[in-house]
Amino acid sequence: MEEIRRPNNMVRITTPELAQAFIDEQIALLREQIGSDKVLLALSGGVDSSVVAALLIKAVGDQLVAVHVNHGLLRKGEPEQVQRVFRDEMKANLIYVDAVDRFLDKLAGVSEPEQKRKIIGGEFIEVFAEEARKLDGIKFLAQGTIWPDILESEAGIKAHHNAGGLPDDLNFELVEPVKILFKDEVRVVGSALGLPDSMVYRQPFPGPGLGVRCTGAITRDRLEAVRESDAILREEFAKNGLAGKVWQYFTIVPDYKSTGIKNGERSYEWPVVIRAVNTKDAMTATVENIPFELMEHITQRIITEVKGVNRVLYDFTPKPTATIEWE
Ligand code: XMP
Repeated sequence: MEEIRRPNNMVRITTPELAQAFIDEQIALLREQIGSDKVLLALSGGVDSSVVAALLIKAVGDQLVAVHVNHGLLRKGEPEQVQRVFRDEMKANLIYVDAVDRFLDKLAGVSEPEQKRKIIGGEFIEVFAEEARKLDGIKFLAQGTIWPDILESEAGIKAHHNAGGLPDDLNFELVEPVKILFKDEVRVVGSALGLPDSMVYRQPFPGPGLGVRCTGAITRDRLEAVRESDAILREEFAKNGLAGKVWQYFTIVPDYKSTGIKNGERSYEWPVVIRAVNTKDAMTATVENIPFELMEHITQRIITEVKGVNRVLYDFTPKPTATIEWE
């Protein structure tokens, strides 16, 4: 692979004007690189792949084929938002793959965290490769590689996670238009491209999605409890000015039940654990001090609105000793 450099004198992209200059330059470069060929992109709805999609739509229009795989582990509303923004508003050539049953069937009964991650990652590549093989004349594969990915792979911290993973018969040339940008720059560029704030300023979300927050063997009903409680937490954080302030916040539903009372009868249901942390680099993290009244309100909503839940807990543990995620 060609050596990639971020120019030493490159100005940090912090304003819409600088973002626009970057966009104009990249559009010209993308047109030159891609010509009249087709380019494929796995569009997760995360910041990086969304910005790459928006850039490519501007540069080469429907020569871009974006594939959004719904693996069933996305947050509430995410697959809908990807389709609304990219297909309806930006008129992208978007293939939506409903692979929910496929992933959840493969994951059924699997409780070991690393095994779950492997299945999710492996199945994702398989589904994406199947879609790629159905298409004719694809020459390029676009990826949302960013500058820290390059630095980390150079430092041997992790494999350049975006670079491939696809089977050998799918030998695409790479297109990586945001590879010299830091995350904050990608966000500024995303805003300048007209992407909604809810997409551009999203909190970090693990690749295996809600799968690592539905601990142990994933069941559909417990996964739904994770998704619904997460949606309530996000809604309340947004309403109460915490959404842009807290670095990462989510819910976990452990594979464990406890006794409670509902409508005068004994219940035996799951707890929902709330996690809200602040960090700079995710290596260490502190716990957010959420106002008690807000916690009471969120608890009330979760125990009345989320099926199968009779208890709400707050994880007060910093990293270390805990990690941010539970799995
Ligand atoms: P931990 O749990 O290790 O998480 O303290 C640190 C940060 O990394 C995210 N995370 C992941 N992201 N794939 C990802 O893409 C993963 O398997 C994964 N596990 C953790 C986590 O959400 C947190 O921001």
